[in-house]
Amino acid sequence: MSHLIAPSILASDFGNLQRDITLLNESDADWIHCDIMDGVFVPNISFGFPVIEEVRKHAKKPLDVHLMIVEPYKFITEFSDLGVTNLTVHYEACPNLHRTIQKIKANKMNGCVVINPHTPVHVLEDIIQDVYMVLIMSVNPGYGGQKFIDNTYSKISKLKDLIIQKNSKALIEVDGGVDLSNARKLIDTGVDVLVAGSFVFKADNPKEIITQLKKV
Ligand code: DX5
Ligand code: ZN
Repeated sequence: MSHLIAPSILASDFGNLQRDITLLNESDADWIHCDIMDGVFVPNISFGFPVIEEVRKHAKKPLDVHLMIVEPYKFITEFSDLGVTNLTVHYEACPNLHRTIQKIKANKMNGCVVINPHTPVHVLEDIIQDVYMVLIMSVNPGYGGQKFIDNTYSKISKLKDLIIQKNSKALIEVDGGVDLSNARKLIDTGVDVLVAGSFVFKADNPKEIITQLKKV
């Protein structure tokens, strides 16, 4: 499988959100990455259900929703009703992760888990067969535009080994500080999906940047 690109709309122009969604529709982007922050799990607040509803109305591509919230279990049916495709919850926010993943799947979405930079890959060994995708944070969650953490490569290698060892089909996604300087190495290390926010939307020609990330 060739790698996928999931631009993060956190870095888009919220005053022109429909325009930016149209841009993604017309681009080589595969998914639209939506970052939901609650000001509790992370020290920032982004957007919630009404914005996802508008994005879904205009988007022609699957929504890849990254929940940076406490107690994500409470809101699974709402995201399903909004037409979300991938629902990703933080390992650190789920004391009953297995139950949460099962509920996401029961609600007809792809159940995905994400780990913070300080969380070791081995904590996933008993959930890896149940998830559609693992997201490795390559920055501390909460803000766009941060510097990529180099330890991410070693975590991706360990995750790839775990996936093979457990005969899992899980995809590997990486999020934070992704650009053309690290994309090739990330893919070579085992990444299937690149999330990119600032690098896409702060560029003069976001569509061209997405094409370049896709061609890497
Ligand atoms: C950070 C978010 C990211 C963010 C990435 O907490 O999860 O998805 O939008 O932004 P960049 O690509 O600017 O690091
Ligand atoms: Zn994200």
